[in-house]
Amino acid sequence: MTAVDNTGFEGIDLWDMDAFQRQEHHAMLEKLRETEPGIHFVDEGDMGPGFWAITRLDHLKEVNRQAEIFSSNIGGTQMQERVRGDDIDSFQNDSLMLSMDPPKHTRYRRIVSRGFTPRMINLLGDYLDNRTQMIIDRVSERGSAEFVTELSAELPLQAIAEMVGIPMDDRSKIFDWTNSMIGADDPDFAKSEEDVMTAFGELFAYSNALQSDRRDKPADDIITTLLSADVDGEALDEVEFDMFFLLLCVAGNETTRNSITRGMHGFFEFPEQWELYKSDPAKYEDTMVDEVVRWATPVLNFRRQATQDYELGGVQIKENDKIVMWHIAANRDPRAFDDPWKFDIARTPNDHVGFGGGGPHFCLGSNLAKMEIALMFKGIAQRLPDIRLAGEIEYLRSNFIGGVKTMPVEFAASPSTNTMPLDRLGSAAGKSGTEGFGGSVEREG
Ligand code: HEM
Repeated sequence: MTAVDNTGFEGIDLWDMDAFQRQEHHAMLEKLRETEPGIHFVDEGDMGPGFWAITRLDHLKEVNRQAEIFSSNIGGTQMQERVRGDDIDSFQNDSLMLSMDPPKHTRYRRIVSRGFTPRMINLLGDYLDNRTQMIIDRVSERGSAEFVTELSAELPLQAIAEMVGIPMDDRSKIFDWTNSMIGADDPDFAKSEEDVMTAFGELFAYSNALQSDRRDKPADDIITTLLSADVDGEALDEVEFDMFFLLLCVAGNETTRNSITRGMHGFFEFPEQWELYKSDPAKYEDTMVDEVVRWATPVLNFRRQATQDYELGGVQIKENDKIVMWHIAANRDPRAFDDPWKFDIARTPNDHVGFGGGGPHFCLGSNLAKMEIALMFKGIAQRLPDIRLAGEIEYLRSNFIGGVKTMPVEFAASPSTNTMPLDRLGSAAGKSGTEGFGGSVEREG
């Protein structure tokens, strides 16, 4: 492998996955951000042509908001170079909304946005509140838990599964499929190419079965909405729906799970903030949720490619140059945030870029994610108020997702509140059960 040569920035290698796992990326990115003019070309050795690292909040927004100049499609949105000619890769790149450019993206986004109206999200509110209580019920009597699998992973899975209308018994499959597709750089999760292909195949087959079911029996759910023509006669075709289903499963799970986990860790590191939040959860709800997403920044970066020459922050970017926006660095930019290393649940304003820096690709699920984060912390504050860290945290080995694999916690044991016997409660994420929150506890009303 060709050595990385970042002369003047010795020690900066943004492909060093071990450094990310050790959480050393903050220091590397800070050096890039704080060295004038804050935009630097980074050598990636054999990993790619090198890229402009965008680490300041204003620059990131300027790039994010100009989709015509900074394409998501030409080189995809991942830092990793695409394998040219690879069928799966080009299929994904052309059919995944995240990597579409306008006007194709504009049409597609108009259709799928119909599934994310405030009405659709609000319909999920009571259901998810109920599920939050059940998730906590599973651990409350024990007095300890593995936070990631038992507390933070479950609600995002249940939210998407419920939104799309996946039967209880099938919910654990989504967890397995998406786990097979991401985490490829971590030996604990890495799967063979064959396993990844199998996961794709199974997910698409499942998605196709869901579609044909709804075409036969329309329901008041997102699938039916997206498959039915709107006033302009627009609907998703079969492949478009498959890709959207895939994106929902991947985009909505890891992100929200890691926000909840890292947010909880933020509270552990700043215990006075936990006391403040518990003093009036309703008062701090909105600002707490934004601070959790800023603090966590689960999507570390997204890539773009310049379609023309462009001057950004006094730096000349050339047509075809690769650009990597580092949301994690921008969300610690001292130009944008007072005391950025303080976890401050009352922070106002909080103009973070955790959901993107604005523009056409801004996170479609942000309102759903915010609701899930709010419900989870409200539930934990009520039911496990003295929750604390009880061991080492294990981080994901990845330079794309700021993931946490495990975080042991303990708390004073308290009785379960649910009428549902504990042994009937399965889970989509936990190792203990794979049958989902099954049985008679179904959507109310
Ligand atoms: C805290 C949790 C989440 C975070 C931090 C997050 C972050 C992001 C980011 C950074 C983007 C790209 C924005 C851009 O480039 O401008 C994005 C896009 C997207 N997110 Fe999220 N996300 C979260 C939760 C969700 C959830 C729960 C869903 C769906 C159920 C979702 C669905 C999507 C979709 C569909 C896109 C693509 C939008 C487009 O290309 O137009 N996300 N998200």
